[in-house]
Amino acid sequence: MILYVVFLVIIRYMGTKLYIKTYGCQMNEYDSQKTLEILKQDPTVEETSNPEDADIILLNTCSIREKAEEKVYSELGRLRKLKIENPNLKIGVGGCVASQEGKNIFKRAPYVDLIFGPQTIHKVPSLLSKKNKIEAVDVSFPIEEKFDALPAPEATGTSSFVSIMEGCSKYCSFCVVPYTRGDEVSRKPEQIFDEVARLIEQGVSEIVFVGQNVNSYEYSFNGRMLRLSDLIEVTGSIDGVERIRYTTSHPLDMTDDLIEVYGHVPQLVSHLHLPVQSGSNSILTRMKRNYSRELYIDVIEKLKLVRPNIKVSSDFIVGFPGETDADFQQTMNLIEEVQFDASFSFIYSARPGTPASKLHDATPLAEKKERLNILQNRMDELQTFYSDALAGTIQRCLVTGISRKNIKQLQARTECNRVVNFDFQNINILGKLVDINITKAYQRSLVGTILNSEELQSA
Ligand code: SAH
Ligand code: F3S
Repeated sequence: MILYVVFLVIIRYMGTKLYIKTYGCQMNEYDSQKTLEILKQDPTVEETSNPEDADIILLNTCSIREKAEEKVYSELGRLRKLKIENPNLKIGVGGCVASQEGKNIFKRAPYVDLIFGPQTIHKVPSLLSKKNKIEAVDVSFPIEEKFDALPAPEATGTSSFVSIMEGCSKYCSFCVVPYTRGDEVSRKPEQIFDEVARLIEQGVSEIVFVGQNVNSYEYSFNGRMLRLSDLIEVTGSIDGVERIRYTTSHPLDMTDDLIEVYGHVPQLVSHLHLPVQSGSNSILTRMKRNYSRELYIDVIEKLKLVRPNIKVSSDFIVGFPGETDADFQQTMNLIEEVQFDASFSFIYSARPGTPASKLHDATPLAEKKERLNILQNRMDELQTFYSDALAGTIQRCLVTGISRKNIKQLQARTECNRVVNFDFQNINILGKLVDINITKAYQRSLVGTILNSEELQSA
């Protein structure tokens, strides 16, 4: 006991180095940032990017696919060595693997000290102060408590995530999220606007509303049901908000009010990530997506009437149980019909406890890999086609930081989130919208020259 107190006193005196590693989706990135802010309320805590220097290591994990989960256990295997070298090191596992596996993590990795779920990040300081191994992963935990416990947000750049809801109640038959993050809960609008205002004050100019399924946001406020369209409309009227994005959304919740808002909120970007998963109606039914290919196309057509230049990206799952070659062809046809500008695509991974994991799956892995290859090659072509088409045009871009490749260059993002590197010396334009003449398109980035450079140089 005495030794433990001495340890705490020494740690306090020396400062506590915290290393957080994040896996998976934008919600995990948000939760990691919030966990950092919560722990940094103790002024002795500082972040480190080197796990070997750390006194506390937290892994914010993802269990969406088996591979993601295995990555966590491999990382824990590596951390075991650090724990042997430094028995005072505290190792914590948070996120969706923690939700799914709970105390089993202690069995597989007995050197882990604490386990917490996405809903209980605000409990991390108290869990860390416990001497014994401890777990708090309750997904039915009142989400309001988490949001109420968050400190004022700290901007980390010109673009910032703002969580507007947690969890998901769609229960797609393949997806583990409703079990690991719980049912959908929308956040109080006053908290959302307060967070937006504080971020804008700190120089943020792009707000990205995040959640598992943001367009199902609903909050009863003064007798009226507020939806995502209302949040966008109000945010668009706040001085200093140059751009608004949201992710991720579900095709079934692309209601007319949300489509109409593209007509009168210019800050809302002409780019939408709208995961379709498959182009085959029979697979969509078995995935329990509750929409048809026709509904998806209809949504995009309606959006194009309001924003003719809108670009759409998607997620795809190939090799869902029972997917035939003809089903896969339907997905490829949809890609041709919609002409997506980017995508994330995955081979179906059976997740424990989901209805799809009980379906008979006869397609050999080699065939699934082949399908994924075909899809990804076509999507690479389309992505390159869209990037090439930007060369020679002038794009309105948000200046986001210093270029990663060349510190003499700045970096900006187009509406469709492509990176543009350009020569410029004055960092006062960070967070501003500027016009850039795109001169060259590479596979992953663009190069350009800024317009009005003399005027902006003296800004
Ligand atoms: N709306 C959510 C989507 C959840 S997961 C969000 O973006 O936060 C992100 C993507 O992972 C899904 O769109 C889907 O394409 C993929 N995915 C989910 N479960 C999967 C599984 N069991 N196997 C393969 N891919 C999966
Ligand atoms: Fe998962 Fe479907 Fe929700 S993919 S996050 S259950 S919309």
